[in-house]
Amino acid sequence: MHDEGSGFPIVWIHGFPLSSAVFERQTSIAGFRHIRPDLPGFGRTPPDGTDASMESYAREILAMLDEKKIDRAVIAGLSMGGYIAMQLLRDAPQRVAGLLLIDTRETPDTEEGRAGRLKSVADVEANGIGSVVESMLPKMTYSESLQPEVRAIMETSSKEGVIAALKAMASRPDSSHTLRNAHVAALVVVGDRDVITPPSDAERMVATIPKAEMAPLARAGHLSNYEGAQQLNPIITAFLARHVLRPEHEA
Ligand code: MLT
Repeated sequence: MHDEGSGFPIVWIHGFPLSSAVFERQTSIAGFRHIRPDLPGFGRTPPDGTDASMESYAREILAMLDEKKIDRAVIAGLSMGGYIAMQLLRDAPQRVAGLLLIDTRETPDTEEGRAGRLKSVADVEANGIGSVVESMLPKMTYSESLQPEVRAIMETSSKEGVIAALKAMASRPDSSHTLRNAHVAALVVVGDRDVITPPSDAERMVATIPKAEMAPLARAGHLSNYEGAQQLNPIITAFLARHVLRPEHEA
């Protein structure tokens, strides 16, 4: 886990099959404390040998906040990290000061999507994470030149972590109701070339969340915060200044 900078805390929750490294380009956002956990079985965190769910991931984040004696934080989630951010909002809304929902969606898996996950589980159990990496890598970024570094991040994922996350994502609940009742402002970020969670997902979330702003990033794929960091970081700074640091100025 990385804990850098000082100021209001932002917890950055990574996607699948990735690690906290995918948010390295956000740590230059000044005036905030950037906390970047690696979920169990990803990056530098070893697998914990238990089944995972969005609830268990959210509990891990809350336990980490308790340990650091942080009451409230901005919760930022990329893709699967967004599913966890929505779970956190459901379970402990009082701990969430604002949301950054990056290339994610509030809807659960379709039957077809779930079946695909379970097929991947069987494949990873038999052959390791290689096929998951190979099939997802081309969809992660718009620019092919980023693939070697993204592959290196993906390859820090453990077989156990990948299996646990696939099962957790397959059984995740619908978060539409949670977003409809969200009491905090949300910045909904999406790469305009995202083929995993396309702009239509972001548009639907913006229409659902009472206080939401959309941040489409040009020429960016699924890892839009990574690929489009130069576009995104000033947008995040302005959004947090308006809604989290000086919320009394809100209309
Ligand atoms: C992710 O980036 O976390 C995954 O693509 C999410 C998913 O497969 O639903």
